[in-house]
Amino acid sequence: MREYAIKGGAPLVGEVEIGGAKNAALGILAGALLSNETVEIENVPDLYDTNVMMDALKELGAYVEKVDRHTVRINGAGVHKTELDNDDLKKIRGSYYFAGSLLGKYKNARIALPGGCNIGSRPVDQHIKGFNALGASVQIENGCLVCEAESLTGTHIYLDVVSVGTTINVMLAAVLASGQTYIENAAKEPHVVDVANFLNSMGAHVRGAGTDVIRITGVESLHAAKYSIIPDQIEAGTFMLAAAVTKGDVLVKNVIPKHLESITSKLLEIGCEVEEFDDAVRVVASKPFKHTQVKTLPYPGFPTDMQPQIVVALGLAEGTSIVTESIFENRFRYVDELTRLGANIKVEGNTAIIEGVEKYRGANITAPDLRAGAALVVAGLASEGYTLVDDIHYVERGYEDFPEKLAGLGAAIQVVNDEKELTKFKLKVG
Ligand code: UD1
Repeated sequence: MREYAIKGGAPLVGEVEIGGAKNAALGILAGALLSNETVEIENVPDLYDTNVMMDALKELGAYVEKVDRHTVRINGAGVHKTELDNDDLKKIRGSYYFAGSLLGKYKNARIALPGGCNIGSRPVDQHIKGFNALGASVQIENGCLVCEAESLTGTHIYLDVVSVGTTINVMLAAVLASGQTYIENAAKEPHVVDVANFLNSMGAHVRGAGTDVIRITGVESLHAAKYSIIPDQIEAGTFMLAAAVTKGDVLVKNVIPKHLESITSKLLEIGCEVEEFDDAVRVVASKPFKHTQVKTLPYPGFPTDMQPQIVVALGLAEGTSIVTESIFENRFRYVDELTRLGANIKVEGNTAIIEGVEKYRGANITAPDLRAGAALVVAGLASEGYTLVDDIHYVERGYEDFPEKLAGLGAAIQVVNDEKELTKFKLKVG
C-alpha cells in the first residue's frame, strides 16, 4: 500500500512554483552526451524519469555530477559504450532519445525499446524512418532498437504524423551529421523548441524549431554550455485545473503563459477567471462551470497530456460536454475510476460524452497512468469526503513533490503507506 490519502472539499488558495519541463529534460539529458565538454543543465525536475536518464548516462561512461537538486553537470567525453538495456529504462519513454544522440555521435546505438504510459499503441516507425533517411540502418532485435551508420548525411525528412519524440530524436541524430537536414511536419511543442535551444547553446545550428519545418546544419562538434530548462507546461496546467475544480484562487508561478494559452482559453470558456502576468498565471474559479467541447491536438492545440484534467472539470460543468482524443487511442482508461467518484461519462471510440454532475464523492480509485493519475488526484481534491488514490508511482514519474505542493495550497493530501498512517491522516484532517 502506497497511496495518496485525500480529504476533498477545500478550495486551493495561494501560490505554487512550477518546475522544469520533464519532456524537455529527457531530450536534453540524452543530448548532453553529444559534447565532449562539460554541459551544465539547470531546472532539471527531480523525477524518476530524469534520474533514470542520469543513471543511464553514467552507465554509458559519461561524467554526471548533481550540483544541487535541480542542477546537473554532464560530460560525454568518457562514453565508452552505446548499448542500454535495463529494466528501468524500459519503463520510461525518453530512453529512446539515447538512440538519436548515440547514433549521432558514435554512429551506433542499441537501446531497449521504450515503455512509458499505456495510453495507446506507441510505434517507433517515424523514428526509424528519420534515422534511415539520415543513412543509418535500423533493426529491431530482441526488444532493442539497433541503429548503425557509416556516416550520417542531412536530407529532407517528412514525418507522416506530428511526433514530438521523432522530432527530438531526429534533431539529436542530425546536429553532428554532414550537410543540412530538414524535418518537415515537425512537432512544435515548447519542449521541442527547448531541446533545439539547448543544442544551439552547445554550438549546434538548428533553425525553425516551433514551426512546421526545422532546418539543421550539421557541425563538427559541440562545446560546453550552461542551459536552464523551461517550465513544465503540463505541471502548470494541472495546477491551473486543480485551482479551477476546487473553486480556488491560485497563482501558478514560474510559467510561460504563452505555452498555456490552449488551457487558459478552455478555463475562460467554462467560466473561470484567468489573469496572465509575465511569468505567472492566476486562476480564480467562483462560478458554476459551463459545458464546452475540447479536442486534443499537437501544439498549439489542446495537449493530450491535459485531457484527463479537463475532463475532471467538465464532469462538474452544467450540461453536456464533448472531449475528443485525437493523439492516443487509449487515453480514456481512467474514466471508470472517475465514475467511482460519481462522474457521468460515456466513452464512444475516441470521444467522451460528459454529463455534468453537481459534485464528486470520495472513493478508492487507481491511477492508470501518469496524467490520468494526476487528474484523479485533482478530482479527489474536489470530492466530498475521503479519496484514496492507488498506484501513485505513475504520478510520481511526472510531478515533483506533488502532494507537498498541493498541501502548500491548503489541500488535505498525504502519502500513506499503511492503515495506521491512513488512520492518523484521518484524525489529523478531521
Ligand atoms: C510525447 C510525450 C507525451 C505526450 C506526447 C504528445 C515524452 C516523453 N512524452 O510522447 O507525454 O503525450 O508527446 O504530446 O515527451 N507516432 C507514430 N509513429 C512514431 C511516433 C509516434 O505513429 O514513430 C504517433 C503516436 O502513436 C501518436 C502520435 O504519433 O499517435 C504522437 O506521438 P508522439 O508525439 O511521438 O508522442 P511521444 O513522443 O511518444
